[in-house]
Amino acid sequence: MDKSFEWRKAPRAHFAVLGDPISHSLSPVIHQAAYSALGLEYKYVAVRVPPEEFGEAVQHLSDLGYQGVNVTVPLKSLAARWSKNPDKFVARVGAANTINLLDNSATNTDAAGFMDTLPAVGVWSPAPVLLLGAGGAARALLAALIDGGHRVKVYNRTPENAKQMVADLGVKVEVIKEPNPEGVALVVNATSASLDDESVPVQWHRADRKTIAYDISYGKELSPFLLNAGLGGLKVVDGLEMLVAQAARSLEWWLGMVAPLDAMRRAAG
Ligand code: ATR
Repeated sequence: MDKSFEWRKAPRAHFAVLGDPISHSLSPVIHQAAYSALGLEYKYVAVRVPPEEFGEAVQHLSDLGYQGVNVTVPLKSLAARWSKNPDKFVARVGAANTINLLDNSATNTDAAGFMDTLPAVGVWSPAPVLLLGAGGAARALLAALIDGGHRVKVYNRTPENAKQMVADLGVKVEVIKEPNPEGVALVVNATSASLDDESVPVQWHRADRKTIAYDISYGKELSPFLLNAGLGGLKVVDGLEMLVAQAARSLEWWLGMVAPLDAMRRAAG
C-alpha cells in the first residue's frame, strides 16, 4: 500500500492510521480485509499528519465523520496527551495507538498485541527478556512484559532515558550498560533504529542458541538488527504479526466485534 493522504485532503472515511511518514503502512489493507470478511462497508485510509498539526488534524477528521484512528510514529505520546479519556494503561505509559473520535477515549493495542504474539514465537511462560529502547514503544512493552510476569533487563543507547523510563513506570528493572543478551530467552528491539536502517550493537556472540530476536518494526527486508541476529544463528521475528494483532485489537475495541484474524493476516502478506 503506497497510497496516503495529506490530512487536509483526506477523503470521507470511517477509520484511518495517522503518522509521519505513513505511505508505507499496511494498516489500510489489513483493516479493509477485515471489513470485507465481516461484510462491513467501512473505509480505512492512511493519512499523513505532522506532529505539530496533530490536534488540528484530528479535529478535522472528526468533523469529516471519522469514528476512530490508529496513530503511529511519531504521534503516540501526543495521542495519549490529547485524549480526554485515556484508559489506565495509556495513562500509565503515556503512549496511545488507538483513539475513538466519538468520545475522545484512547487505548494502547500495541503492547497487548505484542503480548498476543509471544506464544507463537515460542515464549509461552514468563521468561528472561532483554528490552532495547526507552521511547514510547519501549515504555508500553516494558509495562506489558512486567505485567505478564517476565523478568526484564533494559538497554538503551542513552542510559539516562532508560533510567527515567523505569522510574516513571515505578518498576524494578535493571538498566544494563552493554547490550549483552547472555541468559535471556528473548531480545526485543523497541528502538526506532530499524526505521533509519540502523542496527543496535547487541553482543550476539554471547546469546544462547535458543534466544529469539524480535524486532517490533516490519518491512520488506529484514532489519539490520534481525540480520545480525540471524547471522549469529538465532531465530528472528519481525513486527508483522504484532501489527496484525494490534489491528485486530483496535477493530474489536472500536466495533465490539470479533476480528477476522486469518483474513487480516492474509492481507498483511
Ligand atoms: P518510539 O515512539 O518509536 O518509541 P521514540 O520515543 O522517539 O520513538 O524513542 C526512540 C527510541 O529508539 C529511543 O530509545 C532511542 O534511544 P535514545 O533514548 O538514546 O535516543 C532509540 N534509538 C533511536 N535511534 C537509535 C539508533 N540508531 N540506535 C539505537 N537506539 C536508537
